[in-house]
Amino acid sequence: MSNDHERLKMTRLQGLRPEQSANSPQRLNAVRDLFNRSAPFYDQVNEVFSLRSGAWYRRFCLRRAGLRPGAQVVDIGVGTGLLAREALSLTGDPRSVIGIDISEAMLAIAHKNLGIPLVQCAAEALPLKPAIADFVTMGYALRHVADLEVVLREACRILQPGGRIVLLEVGAPRFWINRMLATAYVGGLLPLLSLLLTRKRGARTLMRYHWDTIANIMPREAIVRVMTESGFSRVKCESYFDLFQCYVGDKPSAAQPNA
Ligand SMILES: C[S@@+](CC[C@H](N)C(=O)[O-])C[C@H]1O[C@@H](n2cnc3c(N)ncnc32)[C@H](O)[C@@H]1O
Repeated sequence: MSNDHERLKMTRLQGLRPEQSANSPQRLNAVRDLFNRSAPFYDQVNEVFSLRSGAWYRRFCLRRAGLRPGAQVVDIGVGTGLLAREALSLTGDPRSVIGIDISEAMLAIAHKNLGIPLVQCAAEALPLKPAIADFVTMGYALRHVADLEVVLREACRILQPGGRIVLLEVGAPRFWINRMLATAYVGGLLPLLSLLLTRKRGARTLMRYHWDTIANIMPREAIVRVMTESGFSRVKCESYFDLFQCYVGDKPSAAQPNA
């Protein structure tokens, strides 16, 4: 396993003790607790973070990846349903999107907002049959999983041959000026704004945790490599504003070798 991969697995997690940083049930529980506590203000904080462009951007990436009516989607790390909502707007059928999450509080909001089928489980062990999806989507959950390769192999298993994975993430900018701006905005101003807007200290903790995971995420090339090693072909990454990344890869069809 590469050092980059090790680095992602060991990504610092605010509020977690060192022994919880590895791929352990305690780590999963700690992430679940964090999102359970964040659920009531997740959408509000997200609006501030994305300057209200989140819905547009999520739909843009899904449409660009080829999501169309008739496709069956599994959305891993569905949260309150922000990405699933945009997937639904493209497929047009409430039964066409299944949401997966470990946090019951996030799922409760997704249920209220969208009424789609939801499953509470870890992305590392999906209780779903093989080859049931045309698309697997994952919005901003990659940073939080303990072992990306295990999650990607699960995603590949539930995809039909020829199916597609779409991963949205936020990663630390590469150019120093962008990095400086992102550190000031996402790492400094946003936690403060979140506290002022929601009047909940948990909102500030959530934003600090997000910046911590963003600043320590593995490099883009390493994510592309792990995707390829997990069974995906034609993997590519598009980056927007040096901050937002959209990764797309295909499960090879029977006739197509994994290239
Ligand atoms: C930042 S939220 C993203 C929500 C949504 N996808 C969006 O676009 O806003 C990440 C979600 O991933 C979930 N999550 C984190 N680790 C997970 C895991 N190992 N298995 C399943 N869900 C997980 C969290 O509970 C949380 O709801």
